[in-house]
Amino acid sequence: MENFVMHMNSGDDAHSYARNSGFQRFVISKTWPVLDKTLKEMFDKTEFKSGFRMIDLGCASGPNTLIVISHIIDTIKSLCKCDQLPEIEVYLNDLPANDFNNLFKMLPSFRRGWKNCFVFGLPGSFCERLLPRNSLHFAYSNYCLQWLSQIPEGVEKINKENFFATKTSPVEVFKSYERQFQRDFSSFLMNRGEEMMIGGHMVLSFIGRSSIDFSSEDACASFRLLAEALVDMVAEGLINEEDLHLFNIPMYLPCLEEVEAIIKHEGSFNVKILDSFEVPWDPNLYEDDDYEKVFDKYRSGIIIASYIRAIMEPLLSNHFGNATIDMNNLFEKHAQKLGDYIDEEMPSYLTLLISLIRM
Ligand SMILES: C[S@@+](CC[C@H](N)C(=O)[O-])C[C@H]1O[C@@H](n2cnc3c(N)ncnc32)[C@H](O)[C@@H]1O
Repeated sequence: MENFVMHMNSGDDAHSYARNSGFQRFVISKTWPVLDKTLKEMFDKTEFKSGFRMIDLGCASGPNTLIVISHIIDTIKSLCKCDQLPEIEVYLNDLPANDFNNLFKMLPSFRRGWKNCFVFGLPGSFCERLLPRNSLHFAYSNYCLQWLSQIPEGVEKINKENFFATKTSPVEVFKSYERQFQRDFSSFLMNRGEEMMIGGHMVLSFIGRSSIDFSSEDACASFRLLAEALVDMVAEGLINEEDLHLFNIPMYLPCLEEVEAIIKHEGSFNVKILDSFEVPWDPNLYEDDDYEKVFDKYRSGIIIASYIRAIMEPLLSNHFGNATIDMNNLFEKHAQKLGDYIDEEMPSYLTLLISLIRM
């Protein structure tokens, strides 16, 4: 099994996740109504006098993490009378290779308004146990559960120039990815089920696909176009074809039906909301601000390639070797392909939004 190093680009330089996660921030803002409703229901029922414990699963490193926590703390403040504000414990979870140092450095400026709030970094995989039994009230996760704990065994030999389960992958590849997702998502639910108190809630959003038939749609075409840019690099003699055929990433896009089936089969949680919404590849054009937006598909191509680079660069460097692959060249090619692909209308990703309650 090929090893992989799962983390987003570290630090806060031009290619970092911290500076290239506006897309995920846009998705986060679309989850607020469900998040707020969930917290309101919880605080209507309980005062949490002995404290409120929550976790952000797959928090990464950058402003998004702090925006999520600030929003939750502010919402709780607005739901409680001042003298009843519970002590809040916040666990920031991600894999050990995440840039926790950068995140911790950002904390002091955010913490000022957070009275009664205690923040802890929690490195580890959310497919495993992270917290003591019956200790958690609330869990949130944005754009993480599409990441698998490993690349399914054997797929590299047959997935050729594809690097995840996409419409041009052989059906066996798709089945291997599907089984890995079933295993990982079941473990995720089982472990959260053990950690969470009865009546605890989870709000989860992640990228998915709309149809059970994976070959009928070009889900995540923006990533498929990165595979095309890698194929161009092979044709130019810049990378080795065999290396490209061995490259796969631990990402799978499930549809709502399979997510629902796994939740029911695993049995720890009841479904409160199972929904989906579209998010434009370049959400800048759709944000509610005062600027007049000009549709420029090649400009959007550069923005999309930048946030995909912040996600993919560690996986690419780990596989091809930093010195072997010219990342600037690769992502310039990618941006050009994205610009060519975008039509009059901006393509979108399907985002699955799920709210669960521990039974
Ligand atoms: C695209 S980022 C999303 C980060 C953040 N939630 C946001 O919305 O900006 C996905 C994050 O999930 C983390 N991740 C992936 N698999 C994980 C696992 N098994 N356990 C914990 N974190 C994981 C990655 O390391 C990465 O930081």
